[in-house]
Amino acid sequence: MATKYLATKPISTILSEAENKGEHALKRALGPINLVTLGIGGIIGAGIFVLTGTAAAQFAGPAIVLSFAIAGLGCVFAGLCYAEFSSMIPIAGSAYTYGYATMGELVAWVIGWALVLEYAFGAATVAVGWSGYVSSLLGFFGVHLPFNATPHLAFTLFGHAVSAQVDVFAMAAIFVITFVLVVGVRESANFNSAAVMIKVSVVLVFIGLAVSFAFAHWTHMVHNWHPFIPANGGHFGQFGWSGIMRGAGVVFFAYIGFDAVSTAAQEARNPQKDLPFGILGSLIVCTILYIIVAGLLTGLKSYTTLNVAAPVADGAAEIGARWGVILIDLGAIAGLASVMLVMLLGQSRVLYTMSHDGLLWPWVSRIHPRFRTPYITSMVVGVFVAFLAAFFPIAFLGELVSLGTLLAFTIVCLGVIIMRARAPEIHRPFRTPLVPLVPIGGMIVSLSLMFSLDAPAWIGFGSWLIVGLVIYFSYSRQHSKVQRALASGTAAKVPSR
Ligand code: ALA
Repeated sequence: MATKYLATKPISTILSEAENKGEHALKRALGPINLVTLGIGGIIGAGIFVLTGTAAAQFAGPAIVLSFAIAGLGCVFAGLCYAEFSSMIPIAGSAYTYGYATMGELVAWVIGWALVLEYAFGAATVAVGWSGYVSSLLGFFGVHLPFNATPHLAFTLFGHAVSAQVDVFAMAAIFVITFVLVVGVRESANFNSAAVMIKVSVVLVFIGLAVSFAFAHWTHMVHNWHPFIPANGGHFGQFGWSGIMRGAGVVFFAYIGFDAVSTAAQEARNPQKDLPFGILGSLIVCTILYIIVAGLLTGLKSYTTLNVAAPVADGAAEIGARWGVILIDLGAIAGLASVMLVMLLGQSRVLYTMSHDGLLWPWVSRIHPRFRTPYITSMVVGVFVAFLAAFFPIAFLGELVSLGTLLAFTIVCLGVIIMRARAPEIHRPFRTPLVPLVPIGGMIVSLSLMFSLDAPAWIGFGSWLIVGLVIYFSYSRQHSKVQRALASGTAAKVPSR
C-alpha cells in the first residue's frame, strides 16, 4: 500500500481510544495537585542545581538572570500551547499525539522520536548530576567507599585501546527508579510528592539565607552584580548579549519537564481541567524561583567562581551556613531523583502511545496485569538510560536533550495555529491566548535557543533522527493503524492542501 505521510489521526478516534476502560487502560490516580507536583518534580533539577553556575561563569555573568527570563518566556509560550492541546487531546502521547492530529504521521514520528531523546537522555543527564551530588555529600562527611563510584575501565577492542568511565551511582539510580515505575504510578506519585516538597523547601531555605545575607552585606552583593552584562570578548556566546542567548540555550534545560505533565493525561482524574493547571502552575512557580535563585547566587559569589559541580551549595558555604550546605546537597539528591522519575515516566507513556498506534512493536504497550504499568517498556528503557548515564558526559547529554525538546516545542506551537485554522469548531476547554502571537513567539524563542547550541549536539541530534527514520521506514509505516485504516477507506484522513 502507498504510504500517506501526511495522514492525520482524527481527534475523535484519539479520544475514543482514550476512553478504553479495558485491561489495557492506565490507572486514573492523579488529581490537580499531583499534576502540579509532577510538573515541579520534572522541572527543578540539574538545571538550577548545576547549570546555573556553569552558564553564569562561562556565558552570561550576572545577566544569567536575563537568560533565565528569556528561556522562561519561551517555555511559558510553549506551555500555553501545550495547555490548549492537552485539554483538547488529553492523551499520554503528548506532543507526539498533537502532531499526529495536526501535521501527519511523519511529523508525529519525528516529534515522538525527539521526545524519546528528551526523556531518555534527560534522565541520563540528571543521573550523572545526581551521582556527583551523592559523591560530594559523602565526601563532605568524610565517607570513603570501598569502591570508586566512577571506576575507570581500560580494554582493547579490535586492536584499539579503549578507556571509559563507568558511573556506578548514576546507573544504580536509574535501576531503582525503573523498579518504582514498574510497580505503579500511585506509588511513584507519592514518592515524587515527597521529593518535590523537599527540594522546594531547600530552594526556599537557600532564598531565605541569601536574602538575609543580602540585607546585611548589600555592598558585597552589588559588587558581585557588577558588571551585570560582562563585555563580550570577541567570541559569539562568551558574555555580552550573545552570551545571554547562549546562557539561555544552556539553562533552558532547567525548564524541561513541565511538558511531562501532559504525558500523564491518561492517569489524570479530570484531565481537561487539571492538565492546563498542572502545566502552567508548575512552570510559573519554577520560573519565579529560578530567577530569584540566579539573582541571589550571582550576588553571593562572583560569577567567575561559579563554574563548579555544586554552585548552589557553594553559595550557602559563602554565607557560612554549614548546615545549609548539607541541606542543599540532600535536597539536590532528592530533587534530582524526582526529575529522573518524571522523565522515565513520560518516556514509557510516549512509547506506549506510539506502540498503540502501530508505529512501534506491540510488546512496547503491553501492560502488566497487576501493576497496570507498561512494564516491559519501562525495563528496556531503564537499561538503555542506565547505559547512557554510565558512559556519556553530562554536557553533551544536556545539549542533546535541549535540542530534541526545543524541536518538539516548535512543532507544538505551529500545531496550535494549524489546528485553529483547520478545526476551529473543536471544543477547547483551555484556549491559548493571543493566537497566533503566542505560538509564533514560542517558535521564535525555541528556534533561537536551538541555534545558540553547539555543533557536537547538532551532530548527535542528526544521528538520532536518522536512526528514527530508519525505524519508521523499515517498521512503522507498514504497521501503522492509521495507514491501514486509510488503505481500507475508514477513519483516518489525509489533509487536502
Ligand atoms: N529541568 C530538569 C532539570 O533541570 C530537566 O534537571
